[in-house]
Amino acid sequence: MRMIHRVAFRYSAWQSSGVIMATGTSCSNWCGRASARAGRCCWQWTRPEPRAQDLEIRRGDFRDVLGDIEPESVALVLTDPPYPAEYLPLWNDLGLFGSKALAEGGSLISYCGQAILPDAVVSLRQHLRYWWTIALVHGQSQMLPGKFVSVGWKPLLWFVRGHRGTSAMLADHVSGGQPRKTLPTGDDGSWAQAVEPLEPIISALTNPGDLIVDPFAGSGTTGIAATRFGRRWIGADLR
Ligand SMILES: C[S@@+](CC[C@H](N)C(=O)[O-])C[C@H]1O[C@@H](n2cnc3c(N)ncnc32)[C@H](O)[C@@H]1O
Repeated sequence: MRMIHRVAFRYSAWQSSGVIMATGTSCSNWCGRASARAGRCCWQWTRPEPRAQDLEIRRGDFRDVLGDIEPESVALVLTDPPYPAEYLPLWNDLGLFGSKALAEGGSLISYCGQAILPDAVVSLRQHLRYWWTIALVHGQSQMLPGKFVSVGWKPLLWFVRGHRGTSAMLADHVSGGQPRKTLPTGDDGSWAQAVEPLEPIISALTNPGDLIVDPFAGSGTTGIAATRFGRRWIGADLR
């Protein structure tokens, strides 16, 4: 039987970092501008209040537990599948899921291991349009035994359903953030990505209230980032 867990994340980290503004009010942060849209001015420094009903984690294989996601209802699939080669078939299924769930012009952004990069691109291209590769630049390089490579970045593959539906500028390199230790789903923490590099991506590719889905949610990193920007989020994970 499918188990659905509603997750209440710990809000204290971002509750203190700002308030959402009403249309036409002045920004209380350093920029001082009047907002053209509610919550839009000084977006990097304002945080909408996260609501528990905007977050949902479903335990199980994403191909089963996300089967009821309404077609064309998702603005962004933002995810991080397992990288070992034996999981490659999942990438095809991820692309298929994106092609059905994404709204026209919506994006799928996926972390990807360098070793499987060509196969992952081929799998996702069966279903979606390749748009770009974003470099997630690490704070420090790490030696990769066997490949004899000093690794300083990770690819985030960007695919689109149809043609990109937003025009906000998005840099093709993101950085920053620390791995997290507080893990809402009880994950052991070894997989947790940093939240902060996802913020410009979410800000550029979605609007407040939009639905973001993560089929490989792990500890819920993308969910934390989504709620920081007032987006709805549904995640799935086997564990
Ligand atoms: C790289 S980890 C994701 C880590 C996540 N980005 C984070 O920061 O915590 C990949 C996750 O995919 C999950 N997974 C593997 N196969 C799955 C499937 N078929 N359906 C749902 N989740 C799956 C694993 O349990 C694992 O937690």
